[in-house]
Amino acid sequence: MAILCLTGCGGAQSTLSPHSGAARTISSLWWIMLVGSAIVFAVVVALLAIGLLQRRSRGSAQRRPLSPGTRFVVAFGAVLPAIVIVCLFVLTLDALPKTSPARGKARLEVDVVGRDWFWDVTYPKTGARTANEIHIPVGVPVDVRVTSSDVIHSLWVPELNRKIDVIPGRTNDVVFDARQAGVYRGQCAEFCGLEHAHMALYVVAEPQAAFRRWLSNESAPAPPAANARLERGQQVLLGSDCEYCHRIAGTNASGTIGPDLTHIASRLSLAAGTIPNSRGYLAGWILDPQHIKPGNKMPATNLSGPDLQALLDYLESLR
Ligand code: CUA
Repeated sequence: MAILCLTGCGGAQSTLSPHSGAARTISSLWWIMLVGSAIVFAVVVALLAIGLLQRRSRGSAQRRPLSPGTRFVVAFGAVLPAIVIVCLFVLTLDALPKTSPARGKARLEVDVVGRDWFWDVTYPKTGARTANEIHIPVGVPVDVRVTSSDVIHSLWVPELNRKIDVIPGRTNDVVFDARQAGVYRGQCAEFCGLEHAHMALYVVAEPQAAFRRWLSNESAPAPPAANARLERGQQVLLGSDCEYCHRIAGTNASGTIGPDLTHIASRLSLAAGTIPNSRGYLAGWILDPQHIKPGNKMPATNLSGPDLQALLDYLESLR
């Protein structure tokens, strides 16, 4: 929760606040283009002003010979733009490999599936599965492979790298190589339906030891219900429709339509970055998810007060 609050500070989700080599390349290119276009704009405005003033002072009677003007037009209308375009082309050619995955260099792979409207995240060969949150170790290039199970989405974490299209039937990849520990917000960047705006995720970059602890915990099945109250909460969940859509490793719940709940209590947010992961929001989400995120696939749940409290206790124990 504290980490989620901290993401509100500073330049979160901005291309101009780079935290990786790739993002730095993109922001440098952006600044070069901004400064270049500002200079071009200033020169054009100045020339326009000079032209207008000259015309006024000389009046229309006196006509200037065409040839210096023609040379001027050729220089500023053809030669200079050609030089600018070639420079931009070279800079872009230089930036492309720096923001693209270098084959064989990534030391860790993460699979991300875009779904209406959340991100399903798995770590191959570990059994770890989570949602709307990608943990990566600082200083290690991580190959994030993306695909979609429904429509076209786009994964964009501006502080770490460029956008990558998330297309059904195709796997694209992008490398996240964070230079500093932190929480970087990402967002679906391709209109994908009603809840497109509520399809965010967090990339948590942490020191290697902390990352290994996290991955090892996420790879394990859910902690067993340790007392009678948690057992009751588990029974509420397994006795309801929840288990048909959600998976909790180590229990009978094995649905794949909704986000994996095995370690839901360890996550920063609920509903793909829409609300914080706290008891009150979780209760509101369970009772009336359509109020918070209209159109999502989760139906309202009709639970008694005691059942809801037991279910919340159980879900909060899934660390
Ligand atoms: Cu997914 Cu927009």
